[in-house]
Amino acid sequence: MSGPQIRLGEILIPQDLIHRRVRQIGSQITADYCGKCPLFLCILQGAAVFSADLLRQVELELSIDFMAVSSYGTATETSGQVQLMKDVDSSVEGRHLILVEDIVDTGLTLGYLLRNLQSRFPASLRVCALLSKPSRRRIGVPIDYLGFEIPDTFVVGYGLDYQQRFRNLPHISSLIFNQAP
Ligand code: IMP
Repeated sequence: MSGPQIRLGEILIPQDLIHRRVRQIGSQITADYCGKCPLFLCILQGAAVFSADLLRQVELELSIDFMAVSSYGTATETSGQVQLMKDVDSSVEGRHLILVEDIVDTGLTLGYLLRNLQSRFPASLRVCALLSKPSRRRIGVPIDYLGFEIPDTFVVGYGLDYQQRFRNLPHISSLIFNQAP
């Protein structure tokens, strides 16, 4: 069965702008967590590229762990049912957690992750997201560090995919569907 016809649209956020913003967020986290050793939780797979760049801009002693969730019912719409596919390897109790997400769309994935992690008694829990689509939000979720707000359009690149494609683009681009996905 063939999927919808797609093509890359305009570049929404060029590479240099992403890097500048990532440097700013890295400096902000460095200042905010002075004297602490935060545990960065990278949400796979989408946040892998962002996390790798961000962590190298943070001048602190820190640790990294990974979680994976599945949320999409179809290629571009969340099912609303979030499932934990991979849990952290380390204990999060008493740790200063910084959850690193690629994009907050409806907020359902982030809401699930926050509830899940809060129940394990971290010392603190903050969210760092590269992108946010506020007009798509279904539940209120806090974002402490945000790269960019974008309009309601499907985007790929810099870790974000469409059916596992385009993660390696160095910029954020819109994706055009020639027929409904
Ligand atoms: P939410 O639960 O609706 O907020 O969806 C969050 C997840 O959906 C993100 O972590 C992404 O993996 C995926 N997602 C949402 N919007 C986009 C997009 O525009 N491009 C690629 N992935 C997206």
